[in-house]
Amino acid sequence: MNKNQNPPIYTGDIAEERLDPSREYTAETQEIIFSDEQHVIWADLFAGIHQPYLLEQICHEFKEGLELLQLDPGHIPTVAYLNERISPRTGWRIERTAVRYTIADDWYKKFAQRIFLITDYLRTRDQIEFTPEPDMFHDIFGHLPYLTMDFYAHIEDKFAPAYLKATQDEKEVIKRLAWYSTEFGLVMEDNRFKVFGAGTISGRAELANTIMEFYRLSRDNVIDYSGNVFEQLQV
Ligand SMILES: [Fe+2]
Repeated sequence: MNKNQNPPIYTGDIAEERLDPSREYTAETQEIIFSDEQHVIWADLFAGIHQPYLLEQICHEFKEGLELLQLDPGHIPTVAYLNERISPRTGWRIERTAVRYTIADDWYKKFAQRIFLITDYLRTRDQIEFTPEPDMFHDIFGHLPYLTMDFYAHIEDKFAPAYLKATQDEKEVIKRLAWYSTEFGLVMEDNRFKVFGAGTISGRAELANTIMEFYRLSRDNVIDYSGNVFEQLQV
C-alpha cells in the first residue's frame, strides 16, 4: 500500500453469500488452477507472517501444526495435498467452496461431518496487509495447522453438534465463542500472552497490532510480566 494512503477502514460489512449448488465444487472439481500472480500473493502473505519476530508471539501449538502441514511458502497448496497431511492425523477433511464467506448454518453442517471448508477466493495485492474478509490464505494458513492435531480437532468436534441443536440465541453465543477463541483468541504460555486465533495469525497488520498491545499492557502498567500474569487477569 502507498504510505500516503489511509489504511482501509474495517466496517464489519461482509457480503453474505448463500450456497449456490450450481456454482459449487464437486468431489471431481476440487483442484483449480491459480494464476502466477495469485501464487506470488500467497508467497508474499506467507513470507510476511513467517518471520521469527512474529512467530515467537504465536502459540507453540500453531507452530507445531505448521511444521506438520509443511505448506509450500511459494505456492497455494492443492486440496489433495492438504488432505494428505490432515486426514490421516485427525480424520478431518478439507473441501473447497465457491462461497466467499459461508454463513454459520451451512458452515456447521459441514463441520458436523468433520469437513473444513476453504474458500477459492484469495485477497488482492492491495489487501496484503489487511482484509476484513476471510480468504483462502486465512482458511489454510490460519486454521489448518491446528487441524493436524488431535487436541484441536476434539475441540472443533464439539462445536457443530452444540450449534446444530441450539436455539437462535444460543447459536449467537456459540458463534461468539468461536470468534473469541479460534478466530481471535489469545492463550497464556510461559507467563506471556501468545496469539492463538486464526484471524489474528493470518493478517500481518492484525498480528502486529496485537503484539503491540502485549507491550502496551506492560508500558501502561496494566500487566507486570515479572509477576504471575494469569493471577493479574483474575483481578
Ligand atoms: Fe476463520
